Amino acid sequence: MHVYLDNAATTKLDSRILKKMLPYFEKDYGNASSIHALGQNAFGDLMKAKEKVAKLIGGEANGVIFTSGATESNNLIIKGVALANRTEKKNKIIISAIEHPCVMESAKFLAREGFKVEYLPVNKEGLIEPTELAKLIDNETILVSVMAVNNEIGTIQDIEALAKISHQYGAYFHTDAVQAIPYLKVDVKKMGIDFLSLSAHKFYGPKGVGVAYINRKVKVKPMIIGGGQEDGLRSGTYNIPGIIGLAEALELAYKERAAYLKKVTVLRDYFWKKIQKEIPEVRLNGSLKKRVPANLNIMFGYIEGEAILMDLSYKGVYVSTGSACSATDLRASYVLKSMGLDKNFLNSNIRFSFGRFNTKVEIDYTIKALKGTVKRLRSFSPIV
Ligand SMILES: Cc1ncc(COP(=O)(O)O)c(C=O)c1O
Repeated sequence: MHVYLDNAATTKLDSRILKKMLPYFEKDYGNASSIHALGQNAFGDLMKAKEKVAKLIGGEANGVIFTSGATESNNLIIKGVALANRTEKKNKIIISAIEHPCVMESAKFLAREGFKVEYLPVNKEGLIEPTELAKLIDNETILVSVMAVNNEIGTIQDIEALAKISHQYGAYFHTDAVQAIPYLKVDVKKMGIDFLSLSAHKFYGPKGVGVAYINRKVKVKPMIIGGGQEDGLRSGTYNIPGIIGLAEALELAYKERAAYLKKVTVLRDYFWKKIQKEIPEVRLNGSLKKRVPANLNIMFGYIEGEAILMDLSYKGVYVSTGSACSATDLRASYVLKSMGLDKNFLNSNIRFSFGRFNTKVEIDYTIKALKGTVKRLRSFSPIV
């Protein structure tokens, strides 16, 4: 049996989405920048996709910029906004201590360019207290960037409160909402979000396509220049099959949201209850209340997360330690570190992320496999 419980790393492309994409590879393959009919048909569909995405996130169609994914979106927004809006008086950005590496590295790049970068701490639950932002922010701040949902622990931040404080100081607000779809009902205008990043492969769409939502009243320095596509904000031939896939996947995610949330919540609660009952010395990392229902990040005392992962993989169960994008990096998770987790427990954690295609039979198989794995590994752990 194969059980995929790594849906926060990436999701399987939904066959209904693939079906919508296929004609754009085989029949409607025009370049959306071409003037002839095939190109203009593609351009029309591109515009419809922008409108669809804009409607789903409560924004304007001309603010929807398609990219190659959230790594690019985050680079464009963090670097592009900071560089375009720097003045003698404004030279600071604030990000949280638990952002994805692509936000972290963009901030480090800006620090090397002479910007002041401040990091918002999180509490033991992995949550940012808005009062912490109020302490760090000032009129020198250009941009505040806080992820809506953390990729490792699934915690949900109070985006509206953070955006409000940012605006009080004349700063713009960005949120990496990659892990938030469809858990949060995103409405950029209502929530005060100036910039937002999305990635289709996190919600059953294709890999290699994302959105940088941009408040078009704000100056942004493009990172990829060339043919001038996306109003000059992101050059490169439009990835029409990917863009169509992203828009359809986003629509489907929200259309099926209620049933999906119910399904993953039931699976997650069942799994967590059983694990606590059947495996001793386990602890949940991050708030259970302010967390997306698809994520459980669990500490298994006395054994290494990597050993658990490999043993489960051998049994056909696919999970992750920390963030899967850096699964080859065995250093302890900076997310868990910043929550103040005891250093003895930093390497004993596994992220289980549930999704659209998981079943109760799979969860039962995983619990059984996990019980055996933990028992075996603990039997030769020197620290039990
Ligand atoms: C929170 C978050 N931001 C950004 C990314 C990067 O997204 P992409 O794979 O589209 O570059 C990921 C991917 O794991 C993520 O989880």
